Amino acid sequence: MQTSIRLCTKEETDAVLQIINDAAQAYKDVIPPDRWHDPYMSATELHEEIVHGVVFWGAWRGDRLIGVAGIQDRGEVVLIRHAYVATNAQRSGCGSALLRHLEDQVDDKPILIGTWADARWAIDFYRKSGYTLVSTSRKNALLKQYWTIPQRQIETSVVLAKRCSCPRPS
Ligand SMILES: CC(C)(COP(=O)(O)OP(=O)(O)OC[C@H]1O[C@@H](n2cnc3c(N)ncnc32)[C@H](O)[C@@H]1OP(=O)(O)O)[C@@H](O)C(=O)NCCC(=O)NCCS
Repeated sequence: MQTSIRLCTKEETDAVLQIINDAAQAYKDVIPPDRWHDPYMSATELHEEIVHGVVFWGAWRGDRLIGVAGIQDRGEVVLIRHAYVATNAQRSGCGSALLRHLEDQVDDKPILIGTWADARWAIDFYRKSGYTLVSTSRKNALLKQYWTIPQRQIETSVVLAKRCSCPRPS
């Protein structure tokens, strides 16, 4: 069945949350235990992300939402945020289709993505899509500048970039 991508509506917030919390089970026992909580994202957190400018797109197969990804314009850069594909729909091209769709909306600004350093599959996924890891010092600076996350999350995350002249990791 074909995948179609469109903006998520306010009424679809619960479905978005379901996808995020289902897919985020992948983090359990992988990311530092002090960063893990179940559910991974609360309705309040999702609402705050939307209020702060994260625009969520969804991928549908028929009438079923199977994946979501957010895009956040931060001025000189664009962030891809919260990319999640339902557990039973992974590895079928949905994440890549969402990523391409979001990238098509960005002119020539650098695109940055933050993820857990321990989420090796996510790093592989973004690398396959042409993103490169930035150096640790650059990563720390970028996460402080463009994200609003706790220091502990900065320490345990990586940043991948596309169209960015950030120094590569040594
Ligand atoms: C990461 C995620 C969004 C990828 O979505 P997806 O629809 O499964 O990815 P695709 O099918 O488009 O995969 C494209 C390529 O990425 C790489 N990739 C994807 N998932 C991978 C995995 N688990 N392990 C290794 N490589 C992976 C592969 O190279 C894959 O190509 P292939 O299947 O031909 O080998 C999805 O697996 C997910 O939701 N994971 C849990 C949550 C998460 O880590 N989100 C990222 C937050 S920043």
